[in-house]
Amino acid sequence: MIKVEGLSKRYARTLAVDNISFEVQKGQIVGFLGPNGAGKTTTMRVLTCFLPPSSGSAQVAGFDVLEQPLEVKKRIGYLPETPPLYPDMEVIEYLTFVAKLKGLSNADVPGRVREVCDRCAISHVSAKLIGKLSKGYRQRVGLAQAILHNPDVLILDEPTSGLDPKQIIETRELIKSLAGDHTIILSTHILSEVEESCEQVIIINQGKIVAQDTVENLTARLRGSESVSVEIRASGGALNQSDVRQKLEQVAGVGHVVLKDTRDNRVTYEVEGLPGRSIRADLARTIVGAGWDLNELRTVGMSLEDIFLELTAAEKRSARSTDSTPSTDANETQEIKQ
Ligand SMILES: Nc1ncnc2c1ncn2[C@@H]1O[C@H](COP(=O)(O)OP(=O)(O)O)[C@@H](O)[C@H]1O
Ligand SMILES: [Mg+2]
Repeated sequence: MIKVEGLSKRYARTLAVDNISFEVQKGQIVGFLGPNGAGKTTTMRVLTCFLPPSSGSAQVAGFDVLEQPLEVKKRIGYLPETPPLYPDMEVIEYLTFVAKLKGLSNADVPGRVREVCDRCAISHVSAKLIGKLSKGYRQRVGLAQAILHNPDVLILDEPTSGLDPKQIIETRELIKSLAGDHTIILSTHILSEVEESCEQVIIINQGKIVAQDTVENLTARLRGSESVSVEIRASGGALNQSDVRQKLEQVAGVGHVVLKDTRDNRVTYEVEGLPGRSIRADLARTIVGAGWDLNELRTVGMSLEDIFLELTAAEKRSARSTDSTPSTDANETQEIKQ
């Protein structure tokens, strides 16, 4: 349904999206996960024909965003980060206005507006001014406008950001209920969000895709055994590797110990716990108890969060070693509001 190939987007000096490729099959809910400034919004704007790509291509239902934008727009419903709502309009008035903009015939408009109000559970507030609604309800109106023309694809940019926990749950439920009829890409910088709502996840950082898998595969490690990476340094004197290995293997709950790295007076081991056993505390106690310095103790392959931090930290380390690029946050410029 969506096919992105070698897509890049540059704003003046910033390469916001750097040669990404992915595909989304019909009917899937895909989570686009990444920290602020990763390039999520930019990718979504290219897919929705708001921005032309600098290079590469993107297709929606077989139509190219550059060559057939009208065909693409017909098939896409877009909820931008800031929904394009008019606070002085009543909900029903606004949805009627958008329906006409989207080219629905006058005869179809009232019925379709009623349908989407029903679907998004906003019928009872349809006569209210948008400006008087809570943020959760405004978001539902945003979703209602996105599905008005019954598009095949829904692109939702951080649909739950800024909502309170109850509103987040309600919005997620609403998105899930839309999933049957639509292919959905939603972006988020919150890990639990994709775990809750998505089948597939594309992790993006600094404009590049760093992982792409099913949420199930990525979280499978959470349910498996715990792996911990430890970096140990001798405090004075030399470090005897076989001593270290022996001590680690004796820790309660430890299954497997693998040497990962040795440098100067430091060694790094990856220690795998037996299924269901938590080994971090005992490992730390054993290492310190043996009189060694524990430079680092890091869980490997535990949760999506760990996977994510690991992937993005690797990127940051390589960026830092090549030059002193300012952080993405410092780099962030005010976005142009559509
Ligand atoms: N209109 C713009 N002009 C210049 N730079 C931009 C603009 N929009 C986004 N950027 C930059 O592009 C990068 C990616 O931004 P964005 O796509 O908004 O990321 P995300 O949605 O993942 O937070 C950031 O470094 C951001 O500062
Ligand atoms: Mg964004």
